[in-house]
Amino acid sequence: MSAAGLDLLIERTSAQLRQISGVADAGIKPGVVASRVAAELLARGEPSLSQLLDSAEGGDATAKTELRNLLTVNYSCFWREPEHWPILAEHLCLRIQSGAPLRMWSAACARGEEAWTMALVATEVATRFPTLAPHWDWQVLGTDIDTTSLDAAQIARYTLEELGPLPPRMRTHLLPSGSDAAPRWAVPAALRDHVHFRHLDLAQAQWQPPAEAPFDAIFLSNVLIYLDRVTQERILRNVAACLRPDGILFTSRIEGNLGLASTHLKAAGSCTYITARTARRP
Ligand SMILES: C[S@@+](CC[C@H](N)C(=O)[O-])C[C@H]1O[C@@H](n2cnc3c(N)ncnc32)[C@H](O)[C@@H]1O
Repeated sequence: MSAAGLDLLIERTSAQLRQISGVADAGIKPGVVASRVAAELLARGEPSLSQLLDSAEGGDATAKTELRNLLTVNYSCFWREPEHWPILAEHLCLRIQSGAPLRMWSAACARGEEAWTMALVATEVATRFPTLAPHWDWQVLGTDIDTTSLDAAQIARYTLEELGPLPPRMRTHLLPSGSDAAPRWAVPAALRDHVHFRHLDLAQAQWQPPAEAPFDAIFLSNVLIYLDRVTQERILRNVAACLRPDGILFTSRIEGNLGLASTHLKAAGSCTYITARTARRP
């Protein structure tokens, strides 16, 4: 392909990307993305990027979904950002003792690693309060824009690499599966009852908060970095409004440095935020 042809392809991909999910040009290096998408399509033996763009530009919803799924960065692992989880556990200890239902949200859950880690922390906290645990109503919602990732989140079988730095004690709540050559860890049925996944575009123009809101804890982690500043601020405002007054929001280390704490949120350390309505750390 000529340099001019590639430039045009990149320009068209970037335009679709902005239209589909508010992704900023600067944030995602469109050249890298375009070549990644082209390579991925080639490997799958599917139509070329330009054919896919033709269909997406023509309004074909399936092509738009396929393009969006190809363009999102889905890296995640269990126990990512290890400093977050003891803070969450401390927060959940207060919630279980209060007897109130617990609602948590992984707002860009990728293949489910973050949502399942939240569920493992709730499971661990429940073991510390054996008399309260049987009556504790807790739920985790995982949402993402990428439907392929959501399918994987629901299947919930992970490689050793995907388990990341998950502590050995936490791993005991998962079921070993797969073979010696290709070991996998699966989420057991008891945990699955507490966790639900569905599609949600955080950048959608007509914002509809999840029906499960308000939440006690929200992870909005490693997703704002891919969006432009205006979209970052709009999403943060919408997501912050989904927190309970004593709720807690977790972002990533990178996003913690974006200076996004605002009138809606107050920084509470370790890339965690509390609502401005709450005077002190929960
Ligand atoms: C790098 S992963 C982060 C996963 C997890 N939160 C973590 O920190 O490990 C980014 C995820 O954000 C999702 N994403 C990107 N734009 C989105 C949007 N507008 N709405 C919802 N999810 C989005 C991607 O599909 C991807 O799964």
